[in-house]
Amino acid sequence: MQIIRDIAMLHRAVTALKQGGKSVALVPTMGALHDGHISLVRMAKRVADHAVVSIFVNPTQFGPNEDFAAYPRDEARDAALLAQQGTALLWAPDVGTMYPGGHSTHIEVAELGADYCGAARPGHFDGVATVVAKLFNQVRPDVAIFGEKDWQQLAIIRRMARDLDFAIDILGAPIARDTDGLALSSRNAYLSTAQRTAATAFPQALTVAAKAIATGSDVEETLAKTEAAIVAGGFDSVDYVALADAENLERLSAFRKPARLLAAARMGKTRLIDNLAVG
Ligand code: PAF
Repeated sequence: MQIIRDIAMLHRAVTALKQGGKSVALVPTMGALHDGHISLVRMAKRVADHAVVSIFVNPTQFGPNEDFAAYPRDEARDAALLAQQGTALLWAPDVGTMYPGGHSTHIEVAELGADYCGAARPGHFDGVATVVAKLFNQVRPDVAIFGEKDWQQLAIIRRMARDLDFAIDILGAPIARDTDGLALSSRNAYLSTAQRTAATAFPQALTVAAKAIATGSDVEETLAKTEAAIVAGGFDSVDYVALADAENLERLSAFRKPARLLAAARMGKTRLIDNLAVG
């Protein structure tokens, strides 16, 4: 597996990978890889001839009081895991390569970015959309793969790719979960043993809610009960639990398909997100 940090070298390497009409799938990540990321790499290898993975902890998607400095980083471990999976190329630029001095352009996907995590983390999705657009231009993949755990992020990236005419297929990969149901996340590493045990209350409450809504329970009442169940399960606060149109993310007060239950909750300093299809 090649590890590349320079844009000109990246262009040469991707051109070589594409020789003979071969296709490239990009898996953008911030590292601290877990089995969820590995499932994205496996999908990349199924849908394209070569898998390219990027690791870049993107400062512009973290707020001033968020965990940018503390975000787990272990490139040697991540690189070994990716090599085992047959990844062709690891793109690992540094901050100066991604944002050279004077960088002043950003992308805002206004309609989809304001609510949910966008409301709790102002500027977050502008940072995500900007870095993903840059990664698309740098790697020029045929396909790009994102986990469905960040459902709002996936919707925003699909809209950005459509609006800006990126000729890249955007694929979502199903959420990878631990055996007790908690969605895999690099941020799970922040949880103490007791917190990790309690955190299962989150997917459990969402599963109950998704079934209740799909079988006709009142939406607002169910969302309120779900927030209470998450707090009773040991979370300190709930940023949101919402029923949304799965595509345009409009809030729904009555169930209609396709719908998605979206949620974010905080335990100590850790903020977890999750979502489920409804019906
Ligand atoms: O989902 C992530 O890990 C990040 O938001 C992404 C898409 C790699 C952009 O930095």
